[in-house]
Amino acid sequence: MSIRYLEQTKTFMLDTKSTTYQMKVDHLGYLMHTYYGETISDDDLSYLYIPADRGFSGNPYEAETDRTYSLDTLPQEFSSNGVGDCRKTSIEVLNADGSVAFAGTYKAHNIYTGKNKLEGLPSTFPGSEEVETLEITLEDAITNLQVILSYSVFEDEDVITRSVKVVNASTSAVKLNKIMSATIDFLHSDFDFIHFDGRHVMERNLTRTPVAYGVNSIESVRGTSSHQHNPFAILCDPKADEDHGDCYGFAFVYSGNFLCEVEKDQFSKTRISMGINPRNFCYLLGAGEEFQAPEVVMSFSANGFAKLSHQYHDMFRGHLITSKFVDQPRPVVINSWEAAYFDFDEDKLLHIAESSVDMGVDMFVLDDGWFGKRDNDLSGLGDWFVNTKKVKSGISGFADKINALGLKFGLWVEPEMVSEDSDLYRAHPDWAIKIKGRRPTRARHQLLLDFSRKDVCDYIIDALNTIIDSANIDYIKWDFNRNLTDVWSHALPAEQQGEVFHRYVLGLYRVFDEVILTHPDIIFCGCSGGGGRFDAGILYYSPQIWTSDNTDAINRLSIQYGTSFAYPVNTMEAHVSVCPNHQTFRTTPIDTRGIVAMGGVLGYEFDSTKLTPAEKEVCKTQIGIYKKDYDVIGNGDYYRLTAPDDNNHFMGWQFVSKDGKKAIASVVITEYEPNGAQRFLRLKGLEADAIYYIEELERKVSGRVLMKAGIPLSLILFQYDAIQYHLEKM
Ligand code: DGJ
Repeated sequence: MSIRYLEQTKTFMLDTKSTTYQMKVDHLGYLMHTYYGETISDDDLSYLYIPADRGFSGNPYEAETDRTYSLDTLPQEFSSNGVGDCRKTSIEVLNADGSVAFAGTYKAHNIYTGKNKLEGLPSTFPGSEEVETLEITLEDAITNLQVILSYSVFEDEDVITRSVKVVNASTSAVKLNKIMSATIDFLHSDFDFIHFDGRHVMERNLTRTPVAYGVNSIESVRGTSSHQHNPFAILCDPKADEDHGDCYGFAFVYSGNFLCEVEKDQFSKTRISMGINPRNFCYLLGAGEEFQAPEVVMSFSANGFAKLSHQYHDMFRGHLITSKFVDQPRPVVINSWEAAYFDFDEDKLLHIAESSVDMGVDMFVLDDGWFGKRDNDLSGLGDWFVNTKKVKSGISGFADKINALGLKFGLWVEPEMVSEDSDLYRAHPDWAIKIKGRRPTRARHQLLLDFSRKDVCDYIIDALNTIIDSANIDYIKWDFNRNLTDVWSHALPAEQQGEVFHRYVLGLYRVFDEVILTHPDIIFCGCSGGGGRFDAGILYYSPQIWTSDNTDAINRLSIQYGTSFAYPVNTMEAHVSVCPNHQTFRTTPIDTRGIVAMGGVLGYEFDSTKLTPAEKEVCKTQIGIYKKDYDVIGNGDYYRLTAPDDNNHFMGWQFVSKDGKKAIASVVITEYEPNGAQRFLRLKGLEADAIYYIEELERKVSGRVLMKAGIPLSLILFQYDAIQYHLEKM
């Protein structure tokens, strides 16, 4: 049993393989958070919190004369609002009488085997694992507003998922202004806060700061999870590193606005909350109505970040990604975008496809520019019919020609957008998101379709299914190239405009349900100008995501490094592109580009007709290695051997197969030192006493030596050179 309720002390114990999570209903009915960390057997750890009479921290009436009981200091599972706790809240409501009070106390609980789907939202699933779920209902005794806290325990992955449903059991409507899916109160603040920040073409750089007094937060208000902050964060011991120290991960299964706030309070306690961003959010909840908030996937490791990442990778591969391709080798694509941009016709594309065949690629992907009037980014979005001036055989005929070359066919779409210069916009200007009476913000000259509307989603579902079913398509790249601004819907009354951001995401998920989940044999690749929507919500539908529009191998080292903390390697699409690189103008060896792209889902993105025979041969070898070793790379354990800040000489990473028999270590020289020091690549995750044969060194070495002393890096590896070491356990 992974969930226990200890009646005598009113304590809930949630146990995974190596962690325990504990809560307790206290004498006034409030749900205290009492412990999260390494496995313990102790019942009722509430004594760790010492109630005290603290000035200016008030006492609830029901505490009577006890001046030591205060919601302002109590460690809680789901904080109250407006009744004494002045820290950041889990919920904010505007009650029918204009008050903002919510004081949820224990009403009931229920433990069941399995895990229910979250209505309208992607969420983790048990798969073949036995999962138990605990639901605890808290109710405000005055308003009858309830929250149902849901916890599911994934024992093997050391994961506990959390979500919250708000039930308006009162007789009048309320406005929900904030609802956080997970809150935890820790009794101390000896933490660093780690998050992954960036911008377009430079996503998910690791930021690490000590938790300081006040509120530290990351958020998105862009309608998507965003390039700027990823909805994944870690709280860890200030001394934690890859292999040591306590760390707690929080991943949000949602693709829209989010907030993760970490507050160090007056008594140096820490409250972390993650949920939908309350900014620009206001949901009208009629009497009897419910609001389901998305899920947070929490995991704890007492042994540093590598273990935490392995737990998330296993969790996402086993219990989040629904695609049947999740553990299968992915087709190696050649994508037309950096090869031709908008400037192509069918013959040009066929030449590229033809000349890629002997490289060993599996699939040709036709990117942007094939539909409507789309010769640049000024027009055409929304008109999802083929432009036969460019693709004369139509999508079906073109796909057949690609198939005749022995390649599969993939297609790019950007369904959530509309160009003002499009037939769709001319027919339905009110389908675009913009505020009545105001001129909208344009981004890449395009506007957003209002996916909060059912009729718009229905139209897009139909348009997409028509294209997809019209041809032999094996892969769809689903792009999204701007953020939500000027958010207002023609279809909702004024008092519900605060729902549009969230309804948009729900609309998107419904479209995904109807287009992606109904085509289980097609691989969907998420994309938002690269990695602007790289989140667990998208992964539920797409087994891989275009990691960044930046294809420069050196920049990709840190982008893929940051992404790997939460997301498995075989979710990060990574392409070898031409040099000088189109984003950075840097030149790197093609070997290096291949080795870096094999740190993700390997693909290619250049005009292969311009490659020399020798370059093609290199690509062919890369694809051969990738396919032979796919199981180690895609389904194994990933180790970061260096961090971008460790040194400016090289970056290293490593895969170890799940059975421990094979390992691949890769290294890229990021800065060559003339006549420089002898450097070593220290490996991880090996068996100390086992002997490994290293193909490239033609040498047998013990795991202990490889992990303690490492592999000496050749002194003739120059600037941007790379090397892969293949190890086999003897
Ligand atoms: C942004 C994507 O990230 C690129 O790969 C490409 O598909 C372009 N959009 C096409 O407009």
